[in-house]
Amino acid sequence: MFTILIANPKGGAGKSTLTTNISGMLASLKQRVVIMDLDKQQSATNWLARRPDAFPKIMSWTEETDMGELRQFGPQWMVIDTHARLRRADRTYLLSRANVVLVPVNPSVFDIEATAKFLIKLHQDARVQSGAVSIGLVGSRTDSRTRMAQELSSFFQRSGLPVIMYVPDSVLYPQCARDGVSIFDLPRARTEQQIEAWAPLIAWLKTNVAKGKTAAPTAAPEMPQHGVVEVA
Ligand SMILES: Nc1ncnc2c1ncn2[C@@H]1O[C@H](COP(=O)(O)OP(=O)(O)OP(=O)(O)O)[C@@H](O)[C@H]1O
Ligand SMILES: [Mg+2]
Repeated sequence: MFTILIANPKGGAGKSTLTTNISGMLASLKQRVVIMDLDKQQSATNWLARRPDAFPKIMSWTEETDMGELRQFGPQWMVIDTHARLRRADRTYLLSRANVVLVPVNPSVFDIEATAKFLIKLHQDARVQSGAVSIGLVGSRTDSRTRMAQELSSFFQRSGLPVIMYVPDSVLYPQCARDGVSIFDLPRARTEQQIEAWAPLIAWLKTNVAKGKTAAPTAAPEMPQHGVVEVA
C-alpha cells in the first residue's frame, strides 16, 4: 500500500483539501484508496460521510473500521491527513509508514515561515535523509499573478525540494468539500483548468511508485499509536 502523508504545522494550509482531492483523483483512476484522518476536526472523515454513493468508493480507516471489510477492499493507496500540531514522536512514526510526504503551503509569509521550520524538522528524519521518503511541495490557493505567489515560488526554489503543483484559488474546492466530492467527480466542462493543475502530481506519484518506494511493513494496516490522534 503506497502511503501519502499530508502535513504542515500551519492551520488552514490546505491539508484536508489536498487529502480529499488526491483521494478523489486516485479513486477516479479506479484505484482503491483509504483515508486515515488523524485530525480531531475530522474534516476528511466528515467529507467521506457526505460522499454520495454514486461516486467511486473511498474507505475511511478509523479505530472503528471493520478490518475484514478494509482487507476485502484491498486498498492500494493510503492518504493520511494530519492536524497542525504533530508531535515529534508522531511525526517520526508517520514518516516510518509513509512513502511520500506532501507539504501544502499557502502564499503567505506566516505560512512560509512556519513551513521553513517544519522542513528543517523533516530533514532531520533518518528516512527522509536516506531518500526512503520523498518530500514534495504544493502551493495552496495560489493565484500566479500575485506577488505572494512569486514569494512562495522563490521560497520553494530556495528549499531545493521538488515543487509538485500549485492548486489554484477556486470556489470549486470549498464547494467540493461541502458536497463530499473532489474536483475529479465534477463534470469536466467545469473543471478542465483545475484538472490540468493536478497532472504533475499524478506524474510525481507514478515516478515514486516506479522507484519501488515501499514503506516499512506494508502488509496489514494498523492504526498508529493513540498519541498520533491527539492534538498537542
Ligand atoms: N485551492 C483552494 N481554493 C479555495 N479555497 C481553498 C483551496 N484550498 C483550500 N481552500 C479552503 O481553505 C480552507 C482551509 O483548507 P483546509 O481545511 O484544506 O486546510 P487544513 O490545512 O486542512 O486546515 P486545518 O489545519 O485546520 O486542518 C478551507 O475552507 C478550504 O475549503
Ligand atoms: Mg484539515
